[in-house]
Amino acid sequence: MININEHSITQAVLQRLDNCDNPRLKTVMTSLVKHLHEFAREVQLSEEEWMAGIQFLTATGHKCDDKRQEFILLSDTLGLSMLTVAMLNAKPAGATEATVFGPFHIEHPPEYAGVCDITDGASGEPLFVSARVLNTRGEPVAGARVNVWQADADGLYDVQRPGLQKHQACGIVHTDDHGRLGFQTVLPVSYPVPTDGPVGEMLLATGRHPWRPAHVHFKIDAPGYQSLITHVFRDDDEYLQSDVAFGVRSSLLGKYLRHEAGEAPDGHHMDRPFYMLSYDFVLAPAVAA
Ligand code: BEZ
Ligand code: FE
Repeated sequence: MININEHSITQAVLQRLDNCDNPRLKTVMTSLVKHLHEFAREVQLSEEEWMAGIQFLTATGHKCDDKRQEFILLSDTLGLSMLTVAMLNAKPAGATEATVFGPFHIEHPPEYAGVCDITDGASGEPLFVSARVLNTRGEPVAGARVNVWQADADGLYDVQRPGLQKHQACGIVHTDDHGRLGFQTVLPVSYPVPTDGPVGEMLLATGRHPWRPAHVHFKIDAPGYQSLITHVFRDDDEYLQSDVAFGVRSSLLGKYLRHEAGEAPDGHHMDRPFYMLSYDFVLAPAVAA
């Protein structure tokens, strides 16, 4: 096809996909081309804007390394991450809802046995978490592997602290025969997502704040159940209604209750105030293959 104009170009590009022998790739590329062209037509994209877009995506790529994933941050702040989570994680009634994974999970955190303290020097007020992992019939799930990670009192994940020699406020804990798990950590606080890159510029330019409401991340795996990636948010956080990553669900709000100094849930004496969180996670059964 020659003499392509602004109307015929979409069809011309789609025709080039005729020989694509991967049906899923063909579906995805067809839709991508259609929507991309429609977007340019709808906003009547100027040449300067086209170039600004190219430069923005280039800068986003340059900002990525093995610790920083600016493209995931872009996806999170544009709601794409939460859209895919919502589409792909329809759960049966009673099962705990999923939310965004975020960019700060680490592959090999410390692994703990029994009731434990995962703080390992992280700054913050002490928090004792006691939780249960149940199935949708209300039965305990024993031996579940529970991956926990969170920001400290400065709003930073350990991976955001260059040169840190050990992991802090993250780890893998396991449920006992009654589906229970317990650990000490620090009280999560609300924090801004990194703003020193193109995503930060985009948030500023569009009049958006960069804050996530305080939460602890959980990834729970147990044989026979769907993996659950979720958070438990502080129910008193000022950013619940305007989370920059659109991840808040009312079912994921937890009460982080303050206690005066005294006996902690693990029996030892706390000489300063501490917080307690109790939460039940409910896993959905694995989908039959
Ligand atoms: C997080 O909760 O770790 C997170 C999620 C989305 C964007 C940035 C951070
Ligand atoms: Fe987070």
